[in-house]
Amino acid sequence: MAAPLLIAQLSDAHVGIDPADLGGLDTLAALRRAVAHVLTLAPAPDVVLFTGDLTERGIAAEYAQVVQALSPLPMPVYAVPGNHDDPSVAREVMRRFMPVADDAPDGTCCYRLEVGGLHLVALDTVVPRRSHGALDPARLAWLERTLDALSGLPVLVFMHHPPLPTGLSVMDRCSLMTGGETLAALIRHHGRVQGLLCGHLHRPVQMQFGGAPVHVAPSVAHQVDLDLRPEAPLRARLEPPKISLHRWLPDTGLCTHLSYVGGFGEPLVL
Ligand SMILES: [Fe+2]
Repeated sequence: MAAPLLIAQLSDAHVGIDPADLGGLDTLAALRRAVAHVLTLAPAPDVVLFTGDLTERGIAAEYAQVVQALSPLPMPVYAVPGNHDDPSVAREVMRRFMPVADDAPDGTCCYRLEVGGLHLVALDTVVPRRSHGALDPARLAWLERTLDALSGLPVLVFMHHPPLPTGLSVMDRCSLMTGGETLAALIRHHGRVQGLLCGHLHRPVQMQFGGAPVHVAPSVAHQVDLDLRPEAPLRARLEPPKISLHRWLPDTGLCTHLSYVGGFGEPLVL
């Protein structure tokens, strides 16, 4: 039996946010703690995927800090932009982390690659200067071509904006607002999409979409308050930060764990 593929998913670091806006939380330090946590995992993940909002303002100096914070990771790291990112600046500073496909729609960070027999498809959902996400006809056509080329092969899609509402009302108003129906149809038609990995919500959330599981990773920094009242305001909560750890095997698909960042003492032998 083949060894499982391990994928660490980090999301929503928002490097550059003023700590005063987050109860004193230094998001760059939080990203460094998440990276240090990944380095403690055994077995080590084969690849790290970053599902957007690497920075707060999408400026080059913030990306340089992200690159420096990620530099201790020995495994490949790949990223998609989020609504707080500037895809053109991100592509420029983080070229190694965003190997944009030659045939990607203009101005987008779409690409595909293969790790351990799993085909990873990076789908850029960013609408410049807007908080919601969208898949326009050019991106959907690229995805259709890409999935056609991967017919019969296991695929994992990663993107920033989740494709379905979750009951977090403010976030639901800025999730993937267009292109979702076609995305679901493409996933269903392909038939071997193992899952969609998303960020944006700053909470761990599971859903089903197009017959595939969707996993939304928590933030490595601040979480969004779990408040499902329709009138709930958008509030952050400094819950323990987490990363997602996905274990994939061709026969059994994706199994997702949450791994809390930080020291909790030595494990107790049971
Ligand atoms: Fe975010």
